[in-house]
Amino acid sequence: MQHVGVQSLLKVHIKNKTYLGANGVETQALKDAELTLTENSFTVFFGPSGCGKSTLLRILAGLDSDYEGEVHWAHPPKVGMVFQEPRLLPWRTVKENILLSADPTFSEQDFSQLVEVMGLTEMVSHFPGELSLGLSRRVAIARAFASKPNLLLLDEPFVSLDAPTAARLRQLVRTLWVDNPITAVMVTHDMREAVELGEEVLLFTARPGSIHDRLTILPTDRTSEATIEAKRSEVKSLYPHLFET
Ligand SMILES: Nc1ncnc2c1ncn2[C@@H]1O[C@H](COP(=O)(O)OP(=O)(O)O)[C@@H](O)[C@H]1O
Ligand SMILES: [Mg+2]
Repeated sequence: MQHVGVQSLLKVHIKNKTYLGANGVETQALKDAELTLTENSFTVFFGPSGCGKSTLLRILAGLDSDYEGEVHWAHPPKVGMVFQEPRLLPWRTVKENILLSADPTFSEQDFSQLVEVMGLTEMVSHFPGELSLGLSRRVAIARAFASKPNLLLLDEPFVSLDAPTAARLRQLVRTLWVDNPITAVMVTHDMREAVELGEEVLLFTARPGSIHDRLTILPTDRTSEATIEAKRSEVKSLYPHLFET
């Protein structure tokens, strides 16, 4: 581990990440992907499907160490991850699922507050099989926050939800992130999600993925539906190829 400066949590340079498929075919997912994450920032990975966003997220999570390159942490990370599928244990209640990987300092009062914010209070004794996808995602997000991570990784957490549910959940994640100082990275291919939540948006090239540009999102970009849409259109006119999914 090397020192990476006071402000940075993480500095990454993945020179090469290649998958070897079962059929023997190699797929280079990442090539010279470089990024630095600032403490308590909210970064978005944006790019077309298959460009290596989830691959890079899994590397940051420590779930994949089969790559050429370097990942330098300023201090050991405590990672909370929300996958595209909620990955709840079906035989455990909502409460048990949330507490599964909870930090030892996570109190009963913290639990009550968290489920209140997430709108899950009525559901705590239910089982995952009784929940809609939107509610299951809320439980998965609550579980990640209960573990009190210093790095929260979200892989397309709002995909396949109906528009009002996705909007409500984005708002909840935004509230949780504002209330809890935490470094967050979210993968999305939806620019309006990126504008609503991100402070910095990293634009990926097509596969093999690397980061070819970064956008700064200002608070004024998300003051209203109109400003969000204006920012989305602006990015789309600058980078039309990133919007072909
Ligand atoms: N386990 C794997 N084995 C072989 N190829 C994979 C594997 N996981 C991902 N890939 C390939 O690597 C590329 C990047 O995948 P991924 O990181 O999931 O992209 P994204 O999240 O941007 O859609 C894709 O071409 C995908 O098919
Ligand atoms: Mg993905």
